[in-house]
Amino acid sequence: MNYRSLINTTAYYGWVSIGLHWSMALALIGLYFLGDYMVTLDYYDTWYHKAPALHKSTGMVLGLVLVSRIFWNAMQPKPAPLETNFWLVLAGKTVHFSLYLLTLLLLVSGYLISTARGQGISVFGLLEFPALLGDNAERGELAGTVHATLATVFIITVALHSLAALIHHYIFKDRTLSRMLWVKSASPDQNSHENSSTLPKKPLNKHTMTLYQYPSKRRKR
Ligand code: HEM
Repeated sequence: MNYRSLINTTAYYGWVSIGLHWSMALALIGLYFLGDYMVTLDYYDTWYHKAPALHKSTGMVLGLVLVSRIFWNAMQPKPAPLETNFWLVLAGKTVHFSLYLLTLLLLVSGYLISTARGQGISVFGLLEFPALLGDNAERGELAGTVHATLATVFIITVALHSLAALIHHYIFKDRTLSRMLWVKSASPDQNSHENSSTLPKKPLNKHTMTLYQYPSKRRKR
């Protein structure tokens, strides 16, 4: 049965959320390494101008995607955490919130670096984001320091977030990772207790009754 749809349910991420998550994850990790690489280039390298242009253009597109993602999230249900421990649920929520916040702050500080000389930002030569503040080299310097620091905090947070997803998958053996992937995983009907609409309609026999009354502490994927 194909239970996944475009939009989220309380049990699953829909295709749009999955697409937004992985395209943004790929682009942001790529931007981190591109940023790290481009500051090592010397003036005569062919990528000296190309790499920053690519970094800035992708960053501005990501800004638009981030705003769309925030609106998209606000319009639909969010799958409930599969974790039962209060502190782990809180840690997960804090990390997700931090990832959104860090992405936003990276985009704002990147914009402030690029517009510090009063010029706008060209997005792949197709459109230009104007510089909203005047020429101020000192502000640019400060934004550069903030941007580099945030990028380091961001990549550490991403590493922790990824590690948590892998721990859920391989150690807790729940659906936390698989419901964010395009791979087929067991449908909630098969082995989850989180969606009451999936409970059997027929009267339960003694064995299944016991299963539903005493679900294992961690839900299997
Ligand atoms: C730049 C990289 C990444 C960023 C910025 C990021 C950001 C996020 C955010 C903000 C959420 C919460 C989604 C929501 O609004 O509900 C999320 C969920 C999730 N992410 Fe990532 N992510 C990144 C990379 C990864 C990687 C590499 C993995 C796996 C190895 C991963 C696995 C997951 C999973 C499994 C969830 C769902 C968690 C749940 O259902 O509670 N993410 N991610």
